[in-house]
Amino acid sequence: MLETQSIEIVISDVKMPGMDGIDLLKTIKTRYPDCEVILLTGHANASDGVSGIKEGAFDYLSKPIALDHLINKIRQAQEKIIRKTEKEKEAAFKETIKQKMVATERLASLGTLSAGVAHEINNPLAIINEACGWMKTILSKENMQNIPRKSDLDKALNKIETSINRARQITHQLLQFSRKPESLIADVNIEGLVSDTIQLLQKEISLKEIHISVEQTSPLQPIGSDPAQIRQILLNLLTNAIHASHVQGSISVLISPENKGVRIEIKDTGEGIPEENLDKVFEPFYTTKAPGQGTGLGLFVIKGIVERLKGTILLASQFGKGTVISVYLPCQFESKGEKNVYHTH
Ligand SMILES: Nc1ncnc2c1ncn2[C@@H]1O[C@H](COP(=O)(O)OP(=O)(O)OP(=O)(O)O)[C@@H](O)[C@H]1O
Ligand SMILES: [Mg+2]
Repeated sequence: MLETQSIEIVISDVKMPGMDGIDLLKTIKTRYPDCEVILLTGHANASDGVSGIKEGAFDYLSKPIALDHLINKIRQAQEKIIRKTEKEKEAAFKETIKQKMVATERLASLGTLSAGVAHEINNPLAIINEACGWMKTILSKENMQNIPRKSDLDKALNKIETSINRARQITHQLLQFSRKPESLIADVNIEGLVSDTIQLLQKEISLKEIHISVEQTSPLQPIGSDPAQIRQILLNLLTNAIHASHVQGSISVLISPENKGVRIEIKDTGEGIPEENLDKVFEPFYTTKAPGQGTGLGLFVIKGIVERLKGTILLASQFGKGTVISVYLPCQFESKGEKNVYHTH
């Protein structure tokens, strides 16, 4: 019975043919440690009960058994089981909280660590880059054109160069993420920033023949915020939208005032994100791009920036149809017209 169904409490005789109650108890305790056993001992055999308790029985009752005694014992055993499961639940809860705290701390220390690492890596990168450039110059000289395996050397140097650029991209992103919020708060002209950013990405947009539109629901007051950080947000989001878009796809940017702040919505009709990956996209280093194509830090960095600017970011996506990202940024101060640049610490 124990093998086929889950049994919480077993009531067993001690004297039995074949396997006796104590052996049965031992077997139960090794195979089903959570099962409680109440032994029923013969009138003159209290010592059986004692050895039963030593082997882990919940308790024993001597025959003849009064029914209310037995029922009471069963209740007590049941309470013990309930207390134990509660304790286990509590322990499991504590463990999840602990893990969450560890994850949060890891993220916090990632900031400090990454700034240090990024900085340390930038120097050797610069040296490798310079040396690579130098080798390229040498190889481009006329007397070098006929050396053996020249094209292999050229290819290898190009690979080095591409990898340097990728490593630089990562250090740049990491530095962005860990930058202390000693940001500059100024009157920000959102439409201006949007069109600047689109301008910056024009080459990629034209290459894929993407149609991009910017719409504004009503006239927008400049908002007090950090222009450099907002530019970073727009750049990362628009880049993602461009990468996700198919050739001749379309991207629309909607700007609308909201609660003295602004909401910026970037919508693409690209490949979309499968539902099971939706909560992963903001994780550091999560990327679906081919190796060397993305760092997986874009959205992670943005999330950090939006939080620092006390805004919110929402993402909705349908796999195969497209993605909308909506960022709300509040006004950090109300412009009075006289002074329009503030430093925050
Ligand atoms: N607009 C989008 N449409 C579809 N998928 C997206 C979109 N934006 C982000 N993603 C998915 O989320 C992943 C993480 O995005 P994130 O910007 O953090 O990194 P990345 O774009 O892969 O790398 P990087 O930003 O360094 O180029 C992407 O690899 C992609 O799978
Ligand atoms: Mg990206």
